[in-house]
Amino acid sequence: MIALGVDIGGSGIKGAKVNTETGELLSERIRIATPQPATPEAVAATLKELAAQFTDYEAIGCGFPATVHHGICFTAANIDQTWINTPVEKLFTETLGHPVFVINDADAAGIAEMKFGIGKEHQTGIVMMITVGTGLGSAIFVNGALMPNTELGHLILSDDIAEHYCSDAARQRQDLGWNKWGKRFNRYLQRLQFLFNPDLIILGGGASKSFSKFQEKIRVRTPVVPATTLNLAGIIGAAVYAAGETDAGHAPNITEAEEYIKNMLEAEAKHEKKKKQAVTPAEDADDD
Ligand code: BGC
Repeated sequence: MIALGVDIGGSGIKGAKVNTETGELLSERIRIATPQPATPEAVAATLKELAAQFTDYEAIGCGFPATVHHGICFTAANIDQTWINTPVEKLFTETLGHPVFVINDADAAGIAEMKFGIGKEHQTGIVMMITVGTGLGSAIFVNGALMPNTELGHLILSDDIAEHYCSDAARQRQDLGWNKWGKRFNRYLQRLQFLFNPDLIILGGGASKSFSKFQEKIRVRTPVVPATTLNLAGIIGAAVYAAGETDAGHAPNITEAEEYIKNMLEAEAKHEKKKKQAVTPAEDADDD
């Protein structure tokens, strides 16, 4: 299938047409700066503007830098807080006027590597993809199947959230040299190794291009390799996801997603009510 793959990031929204059987890019990559503030409506409008620059594709897939469960965004570590609880698939689909499939960005990158990159040769065992950029993204594959929405960039390391300690943004923000940053990142990989015992760790995102600069600081027994699809992995994987050519499957359709968020909000409201009721008897007792 020919699909449009889009990678939504904190600074840029990038897209290209992809042959989802071969992983080949069929157009040049177009990048539009992420609007600031990157609210749901502003990002959806920019996505529409980007998609309008391409023709002749059958599906659209988007990698998104947050947890995307049943088409709904549940976290906002590096994006505007108003994204929390936003039905992102529904919003994009309605704004663009045709179905848009949305997946976590690191999961998308992992899908590309498992299908077209180094992961192709590792369909048995446990493969972890770690994307190193503004945040730290993670994807875990067990015997080739994705366990979606792992958030291993949020492990605590040195009393800090791992992605604040050793993402590429942390390296730039704190002006760390590759050696110093490499040592930090090595600690992170050691923790992942201890917790998950993966058979292979693939590094994606911006820092994967600079692998040779910090490679010698990496001292884990698990083989660690840079992604072969480099920072195009997110675009390619999102396109493959949209085409349905992955075990990750599609999120349920929009109606199901709506039903899901409705149930969730109802459950939250019930919980709040119960909490209030738990307090009220004591207050009543005082009144007596
Ligand atoms: C987010 C993840 C995302 C990663 C890379 C993290 O802050 O929580 O969902 O995959 O950044 O963008």
